[in-house]
Amino acid sequence: MTTFFKPEQTFLSGSKTLSRDYYLLPDFFAREIGQIFTRSWFCAGHVSRIPNAGDYFVLDAYGESIIILRDQKEEIHAFYNVCRHRGTHMCEETEGRFSKTIQCPYHAWTYSLDGKLIGAPLMKDVADFNKEEYPLHAVNLYVWQGFIFLNLASSPQPFEQVFQPVLDKFEGWNLPLLKSARRIVYDVKANWKLIFQNYNECYHCPPVHPQLAKISPFTSGENDLISGPFIGGYMSIEGASSLTLSGKVCALPVGDLAQEDYQRVYYYSFSPNMLLSLHPDYVMFHTIWPQSPTQSLIHCEWLFHPEAFGRADFHPEDGIEFWDITNRQDWHMCELSQIGVASRVYQPSPYSPREALPAAFDKNYLQIMNQEQ
Ligand code: FES
Ligand SMILES: [Fe+2]
Repeated sequence: MTTFFKPEQTFLSGSKTLSRDYYLLPDFFAREIGQIFTRSWFCAGHVSRIPNAGDYFVLDAYGESIIILRDQKEEIHAFYNVCRHRGTHMCEETEGRFSKTIQCPYHAWTYSLDGKLIGAPLMKDVADFNKEEYPLHAVNLYVWQGFIFLNLASSPQPFEQVFQPVLDKFEGWNLPLLKSARRIVYDVKANWKLIFQNYNECYHCPPVHPQLAKISPFTSGENDLISGPFIGGYMSIEGASSLTLSGKVCALPVGDLAQEDYQRVYYYSFSPNMLLSLHPDYVMFHTIWPQSPTQSLIHCEWLFHPEAFGRADFHPEDGIEFWDITNRQDWHMCELSQIGVASRVYQPSPYSPREALPAAFDKNYLQIMNQEQ
């Protein structure tokens, strides 16, 4: 039995916003890359992006270029996009399909889709050269509920251990089977933490999202995950059947849902880069890619039941447009915040009790940043 709390019930009184350095200084950003992003499990995308053998996409993540692909045996792998010969960046496209191999464009070293070096012209003339010793550098990978998670650490904490609080939480939502209908990339001039803080409260909903606030009362939120790297809960849908422009459901239910889930949207943020929003008829997820202290790319994708596609009652745009409008309203507020916190007069200020989750996000963030390295 899951216990839910109103935000004000779990609010740590006295919580204040972060100081401006955290949103501005390149030194802090470098520490975040070193202490958070290159040590954590982060979401690279959903398996439905590479449905067939040979399909791949290339991700720029925290200064690294990574190829994520499905091999001939349907297994998913991630490799650094770095040739083992002279280090050349091999794959320039952002997505596509490999025939059966990956070939470096420079001197044609060739790798199988599971990363083995299988061709290296003239290298047999090199004494002691052994192809087995030069596979592509693999990235730690774990597929959880259809989402591909990667970790750049040399020996990361096991995924199941880190994700223990949510490991079995979304059974019934069919997440591994869902198919993507749309992906939008937003370029937002705001620090990545402002985006997490914004996602985790609806105190801003009446002024910022009149459309959303009309069908999902901003005070209806209750949270079951209230501290640590995974936080969130649900909000009610009232006077509508889903969060869509029409207010009607736009597709088949995504899963075998409990009765109450048809009138709820669940919102969870997984530090350091994923936001997962579960609606009765679609699942939206964001991944956040910090580019600098003041800029973030946000990938947003909408997933639907595989059998919904092609049916007469499938209107994905109804949900997608609803959230595209809402996303842009949020990003605009994050950009205004970024400008304001850069001012010399900005000081940490009290959070409201409705902002229990942003306060919890900051607390978890500071704990990691202040850990002895
Ligand atoms: S750098 Fe890739 S084959 Fe030479
Ligand atoms: Fe919002």
